[in-house]
Order: sequence, then structure tokens, then C-alpha cells
Amino acid sequence: MRPQEIIAVKRDGRELSRSEIDAFIAGVCDGSWADYQISAMVMAMFTRGLSEDEQNALTYAMLHSGEVLDLSGIPMPKADKHSTGGVGDKTSLVIAPILAACGIAVPMISGRGLGHTGGTLDKLEAIAGYDVNLPTGHFREIISKCGFAMSGQTADIAPADKKLYALRDATATVPYIPLIVASIMSKKLAEGLDALVLDVKTGSGAFMPNIEDSMRLAEAMVQTGRNFGVRTEAVVSDMGRPLGRYAGNTCEVYECVKILRNELLELSGPTRELSLELSARAIVLAGVENDLVSARALAEAKLGSGAAYERFAENCRLQGGDIDSIPTTDPFAGKGLSTLEIKAECSGWVERADALAIGEAVVEIGGGRIHAEDGIDFDVGFECFAEVGSEVREGDLLGVLYARTNEDADSVGAKLGAAYKISETPIEPPPLIRGIV
Ligand code: URA
Repeated sequence: MRPQEIIAVKRDGRELSRSEIDAFIAGVCDGSWADYQISAMVMAMFTRGLSEDEQNALTYAMLHSGEVLDLSGIPMPKADKHSTGGVGDKTSLVIAPILAACGIAVPMISGRGLGHTGGTLDKLEAIAGYDVNLPTGHFREIISKCGFAMSGQTADIAPADKKLYALRDATATVPYIPLIVASIMSKKLAEGLDALVLDVKTGSGAFMPNIEDSMRLAEAMVQTGRNFGVRTEAVVSDMGRPLGRYAGNTCEVYECVKILRNELLELSGPTRELSLELSARAIVLAGVENDLVSARALAEAKLGSGAAYERFAENCRLQGGDIDSIPTTDPFAGKGLSTLEIKAECSGWVERADALAIGEAVVEIGGGRIHAEDGIDFDVGFECFAEVGSEVREGDLLGVLYARTNEDADSVGAKLGAAYKISETPIEPPPLIRGIV
């Protein structure tokens, strides 16, 4: 069938067959479908909708557009965690070493930050020398040596997604659940996993801000993982406020290392808590423990004994990273940065610390990227001093922005000021975990 005949099926609201979806994805990969035809097809999918069968067929075709990792030579259960992305969302750097210390192999393929959300690869690159471009053989070797490896997506993993995502981004067709599911799950399923824990964010800093949409996305991803024989669960977690103390790159790595070294910083509690919750779920799904209570105890023990930190240090060495380049005290000190203090304008309780505004401010001062090809200033970032629900007095510090120049800092001052709202009455912060699927 010619591309236009397949496009017409969806344009007219009919269900695509598996072979039509296979032909579409083959055409995306071999270049026989022009960009305008691919764009027309995703727009037809977006407006006419995809059934569950079509969503599964699309995920399958995208997954098999490239290589599926064969980790059968590693005699351990394989598990991973994937987050839909947020501000200060740094749990991967804590979870991977905890799971590795529990005897679980973690083949973590991550992405870069785009828009107001940060990306694991950027945080890792804030560690001097850390290599996130691992060829498959080296990736596998590092997993067998220290239990986990963290790398970017190679050209061989779900190549159809790279092309499709770029065209969806350019044609306003990203926010449609079946397309998101096929995009994310085709990449995760290519890791050859036994178990997968998804952290679906909800709230202003999430890519699906509303809780109903986040729950629907979580349900669709969990169902798809299970359809493909991977034990899958999702936690829907709050991203209305930044996670933990820092948002940036070097500063987020610092926060994770502090957690791994059991030197917990103020306001880092939620980062540790979410990391342990997601780890415990992965431990049960991987079959290492039978229930969440023992899995949580095991994860805490691996953190407490320093075993997880040792895995992190070993991984850093194997991936070329200089662990001594990670700050051990104030992560912003000695970098000649300009600061902008955000202070409470009145006494009361912090009602809002808006993740979206804080994430955007960090991106605008160079800590994230607006275009995929932009470079990143690893040193800049935001430090939270008060969390939602905290009681504050007029003039108390709510947060500090660390920018490269005074002009950069001033340019986001109004946005950051508006990110905070103080209530005259006590505020109950929303729970960190909003739902489980
Ligand atoms: N992240 C992805 O990888 N794909 C999407 O479609 C949306 C978010």
C-alpha cells in the first residue's frame, strides 16, 4: 500500500491493521515516507485516536525498529525506573546504585533535559569525564561489573521514535497518550527488562499537569509493559513543586551523593523518600523480595551501609567520571556565580513553590536547554530554602538562584518571585505520592 492509502485509513477514522502500522514504521525508518506524510499520519492518529490494539502494534513496531538488548548473559534480574520528567527530579542517580547493591542489573537508558525539565544525561555529564555515549558492548560490560550502567539512546535503540518524536514536536502532536506510550515504552522495552517502575509526574512542572491525565498515562503505560511481558508498576508523584533541595545539574548530583553517603541535607527528604519508594517497588517486581515492607528495608539497608554509594563510585570510575569533581560542600561555592534571593513578602505558610516557574528560570539562565542542540551551564541552579507547608516570617529566604551573571539573575527575578505564594493560614502540602497503578 502507498503511504497516502494508509494515511487515508486513519484520516477517515478507521482502525489501522498491524501490517499497515508496520509499513508506516518501516517507511519512517527507511526514508520511503516523506516528513509531510509522517506528519499527516501522526496528526490523523492524534485527531482520530488509536485503539488499544493499534497502540500495542505501534509500540511493537517502534520497539523492533531497532535493537532489543540481550542481557541474558548477566545472571541477575533486570529492572529499570523511568520518570516522565520534572524539576529537581534526580532519583535515577540514587535508585540505580541501590538496585545494583540489591543484586539487580539496571540497564538505564536516559534522555537529556528539554524544556523546563532536567535530564539524567545532563546531570551525569556534570561529573567531569563521565561518558554517557556507551556502545552496547561496553554498556553490557559495565552492568556486569558494577550492576548498572547509564547511557544515552544509541542510534540502534528504537530509531523510529527519534524521527517520530521530532516531527510530533514540530506539529503539536506530542500530548496524546497512545503516542506517548508507544514512544516511551518502545525505548524502555528495548532494554530487555524483567521489571519496570514508572514515575509519572503530575502538577505544574510535569508534562501532564492534571492528575486525571497523569493517572490515565500511568495506566496505559503499565498495561503496555504487562502486554509485553514486563512486570510493570507506576507511581504517580507530585511535581507541583520541585523535588528536594536543588534544581540544576551539578547541584542535583551533589544532593544525590549526599543521600548515598547518608549525609541528608535539609529539604532533601522527598528525594530520598521517592527514591526508596521506587526502589522498593522495583525490588519486589524483580523478585528479590516478596513484599514492599521487606523490599523497603533492604533498600534502606543498602543505603545505610554505604553499599549503594560504593556501587555509585564504582560506576563513576567505570564510566570515566571523576568522583572528586563532585562538590562535597556547597555546590555553588567558588564558581563566581551571581545570586538572587527570593524572600517571603509576608509571614504565613508557603502555599506554592511552582515547579514550572522554577524549572523555566533554571533553563533561562542556561541550566537547561530550550533547543535540543543548546549547551548547558552545569554550575547554575536553584536552591530551595522553604517547602510547601513551611511556616515563614516576612523576609525569610524561600530560595536562591545562582546564575552566571547579574543580568541573567535579574532576567528571571519576577518569574521566581511569582513562583511563591504565602498563605495566611496553615497549608497541608499535597502528598508526594498521588497514586499507584
Ligand atoms: N517522552 C518521550 O520519550 N516521548 C513522548 O512522547 C513524550 C515524552
